[in-house]
Amino acid sequence: MPADVILDPPVSAWTTGSDLAAVLADPAEDRVLVVPLSAGATAEEAAALTAAGLDPADVLDTHEPERTAGAVTRVSLRPGAHPARRLLLVGVGDGTLDAWRSAGAEVGRATRGLAAAVHALGSPAADVLAAWVEGCVLGGWTSPRWTKDGPVAGVDPVGSAVVVADTDEADDLVRRAVVVSRAQLVARGLAVTPANIKNPAWMAAQARTLADRHGLDVTVWDEKALASEGFGGLLAVGAGSASPPRLVRVDHTPPSAVPTTPRVVLVGKGITFDTGGLQIKPSDGMLAMKTDMSGSAIVLAVVAACAELDVPVRVTALLALAENAVDGASYRPGDVVTQYGGTTVEIGNTDAEGRIVMADALAYADEQLDPDVLLDIATLTGAARIALARVMAPLFATDDALADALVRAGESSGETVWRMPLADAYRRALDSDVADLTHIADGVGGGAVTAALFLREFVGQRRWAHLDIAGTGRSDVDAGVNAKGGTGFGTRLLLRWLEETR
Ligand code: BES
Ligand code: MN
Ligand code: ZN
Repeated sequence: MPADVILDPPVSAWTTGSDLAAVLADPAEDRVLVVPLSAGATAEEAAALTAAGLDPADVLDTHEPERTAGAVTRVSLRPGAHPARRLLLVGVGDGTLDAWRSAGAEVGRATRGLAAAVHALGSPAADVLAAWVEGCVLGGWTSPRWTKDGPVAGVDPVGSAVVVADTDEADDLVRRAVVVSRAQLVARGLAVTPANIKNPAWMAAQARTLADRHGLDVTVWDEKALASEGFGGLLAVGAGSASPPRLVRVDHTPPSAVPTTPRVVLVGKGITFDTGGLQIKPSDGMLAMKTDMSGSAIVLAVVAACAELDVPVRVTALLALAENAVDGASYRPGDVVTQYGGTTVEIGNTDAEGRIVMADALAYADEQLDPDVLLDIATLTGAARIALARVMAPLFATDDALADALVRAGESSGETVWRMPLADAYRRALDSDVADLTHIADGVGGGAVTAALFLREFVGQRRWAHLDIAGTGRSDVDAGVNAKGGTGFGTRLLLRWLEETR
């Protein structure tokens, strides 16, 4: 079943233990013992090696393992003589959260396809333990493949993983880290799904399936409903496609909710393929555009995970789904489009379609959902990638406390965001001679900033934040926690932030 490969990505069976010798005494075939190595030798690593029936000094002298973050040294052990088949020594370098997360990712990669792993972690801090497990889950992932036998999962991650750690509530920490990183895998799976499969209706169907599994409420607007309620932006962008647009709303309501429980609305850009429209992209620029729906995949995966994590606030995800295609019915440069709520927009470039679909969803959220915080995430501008490249995402916000909270969540989740200005000096460039607004600020530069200024016109007086993941949303390489393709960047950050929002 296609849905299951994507919405149910394979993840190891994770458990915890507190006594390494006891865990290793349990017989298991083809087991690998994983021992992290800090910058300098520690008593914990010596204890782990001893428990595996090895002499620490001898192992270190013989193999001279590297201790930089993510460096992996493999040691085969003699069958019968040791409680594990092999030993994986993994550097965690300076021991920062990022170092532990990327070391975990290398363990995830190195243990793919194996039966069992035991992680001898000593007594890590809670956030270190979580970062390690997240890294393992993310690094263990490979893209599904669409084969002659249908869609199949990629290489499986290690079958079972036991975390041996002397840390309070290790069980709960591991469980949460798996939920968070698994949500990111769901976002990735959706992002790498080919665009001939994932049109807007398909995305809506995935949202229904996932929401049903978690007991969340779903509403889907088809093209008729969009027209009768005035979603002119989604309809304009989707007009050139054989696959009509959709708006999807998924609601997480905590069981403890009372009328005063805050509501966060998350809006995701869901362009299932971005040809650029009539102002068509050059072929190089178009190649990656099946991932232009990453924002919508992330907000969907996040709202589903909120249910599993018992996030105590109301969370509503809005997926603004359309395909930006070339056709006689496509919207044109110079058109005037009426967005949800009535604001008219002069189309400056059909390739700036993201802000048009986002404007409808943001205006709907502001007018109908009374959010305490409105946040959107979008692969919005090539300019974001030019400004901050591939590991940091521009953040824009109308509220300092909100911006600070997101920056902090970015630091602890390893998904770094950098606040950029909603510079009023450039706002005039969005004035139009023929409509309420023009949608690109031609000749001004600062494309990520002016796109954010455009979105701000649709959020009313809300506390609002915008993440532009055009640079971070895709990776060209298998490296760190990322695999080639969609990264799901923002999933961990949003969940960290939501878990802390009260
Ligand atoms: N989806 C693109 C942005 C993008 C570019 C995402 C590269 C990922 C990688 C967006 O719809 C787009 O085409 N933006 C244009 C806007 C311009 C026409 C004002 C851009 O950034 O060039
Ligand atoms: Mn575009
Ligand atoms: Zn786009």
